[in-house]
Amino acid sequence: PAARQPGGSQDPVVAAVVVAAGKGLRVGGDLPKQYRRVGGRAVLTRTLAALAGSDRIARIQPVIASDAQDFYRECLADLDPAHREKLAEPVPGGATRQQSVAAGLEGLARSGHPDLVLIHDAARPFVDDALIARAVSAGAEHGAAVPGVAVSDTIKLVEEIAPGIGRVHETPAREKLRAVQTPQSFRFGPLLDAHRKAVAEGRDGFTDDGALAEWAGLPVVVFEGDARNRKITQAADLIDADRAFSGRAFSE
Ligand code: CTP
Ligand code: MG
Repeated sequence: PAARQPGGSQDPVVAAVVVAAGKGLRVGGDLPKQYRRVGGRAVLTRTLAALAGSDRIARIQPVIASDAQDFYRECLADLDPAHREKLAEPVPGGATRQQSVAAGLEGLARSGHPDLVLIHDAARPFVDDALIARAVSAGAEHGAAVPGVAVSDTIKLVEEIAPGIGRVHETPAREKLRAVQTPQSFRFGPLLDAHRKAVAEGRDGFTDDGALAEWAGLPVVVFEGDARNRKITQAADLIDADRAFSGRAFSE
């Protein structure tokens, strides 16, 4: 079970679920993107190091594909021993991101309920302490909180009427839109209940936990994200990340 952190009984016990069970189809290549190296270390190693390096996070539950055990062990070998201590045994992911998050939450439920859980994409290695701190405080205060950044493009709501052609239904006011990232921060019990309700009702395919929480009736707030906290999604993102991490010390 996660130990209560120093700093007084007010501090919530915070755990993180890192979802790393995707196939990385859009990046392509033989090795899933979370196991590719950027600046000499695997993306997943960097993500785990960033979270474990935060003294606000007591425990981390990795979620990996069952056929990726060997790749995962290689990531562990590259981690600082003090960081490794925070890692729970990985649990196997599911066919969708939502199923992988649920598997991680059930893993944490078995090893003692934290007060707060951060759900984070393995594919976002740029997460830093300042963003983690904002996630923890917004989640503790509001119960369900997701990081968002203002969008610079105008966004259209469309319906596809032919391949590559979408009929425009609506243009939402840009200043009201936020592009949402991870880490997303929730009180543990309500998020676990929301995921269990989705399983019970056969709802799958929520692409983020904010949307699942909304569906379950939890009020969700958006806090200030970080434009640098990009998700590695396309091959070019991997090249950019490699450049950004090269020449930068591992601990930074
Ligand atoms: N993820 C997961 N289990 C899944 C699908 C996704 O754990 N069944 C994780 C990915 O490993 C990633 C995060 O969710 O860290 C965000 O998903 P995404 O960027 O879509 O990654 P992939 O699904 O791996 O990539 P793609 O959609 O291009 O195949
Ligand atoms: Mg995906």
